[in-house]
Amino acid sequence: MKKPVLLGVNVDHVATLRQARGARYPDPVHAALQAEIAGADGITVHLREDRRHIQDRDVLVMKETLQTRLNLELAVTEDMIKFAVDLKPEHCCLVPEKREEITTEGGLDVVGNEESIRKACQQLGEAGIEVSLFIDPSTTQLEAAKKVGAPVVELHTGSYAEACGTPALARELKTIETAMKFGRELGLTMNAGHGLHYHNVQPIAAIAGMHELNIGHSIVARSLLVGFAEAVKEMRSLIDKT
Ligand code: PXP
Repeated sequence: MKKPVLLGVNVDHVATLRQARGARYPDPVHAALQAEIAGADGITVHLREDRRHIQDRDVLVMKETLQTRLNLELAVTEDMIKFAVDLKPEHCCLVPEKREEITTEGGLDVVGNEESIRKACQQLGEAGIEVSLFIDPSTTQLEAAKKVGAPVVELHTGSYAEACGTPALARELKTIETAMKFGRELGLTMNAGHGLHYHNVQPIAAIAGMHELNIGHSIVARSLLVGFAEAVKEMRSLIDKT
């Protein structure tokens, strides 16, 4: 029988709505706790250097209150690595970050930044944190991820998501399937995420060996109409049906 695919719920955009008014609500911590009750296997937040959505306080309170596990996404900078080493979340996912981008565009260039990423993996690993690298579905990036000592990768599904409804979709899905197989052969734990929603998640969840999907924007958007717990349950159920 196929192993269940884990669901990490990203609550960044609950904080986006709060920050739009500088209000106390909606609180991403409340959303995270509801997501856990509704069946999330973990909670993901991206503490961006510009603090545009998630704030330090959100991460600190989640670390104290979550029942599942915290996956902290962060850029490879000295300050952010220090923050993570001090906090010790269960997981960290290293991501590229540009101030002008709307969301994380493209994966981390592990090939071009081997030394700094190796050092970050080592520092986080020594603090007892499981590290993953957010990379494009490319064999060279997968080989580099293995080389720098990351036990886990998260494949960027943004190109697949953008190809939905176009003739490029089959090709993009194949690219992810091929990368998944290659990564598993290297002995990496394989996660995926970005741009996944209720109408495109199933072919990705169905790929053999998929360990975890990290999904945020579509769940937060749906929660406006059906409530946060229901939005998580519906996503969980689509994934479980693959
Ligand atoms: N995984 C990573 C590494 C991300 O940076 C993001 C976006 O913050 C996601 C998953 C979730 O993407 P989305 O919000 O499009 O579901």
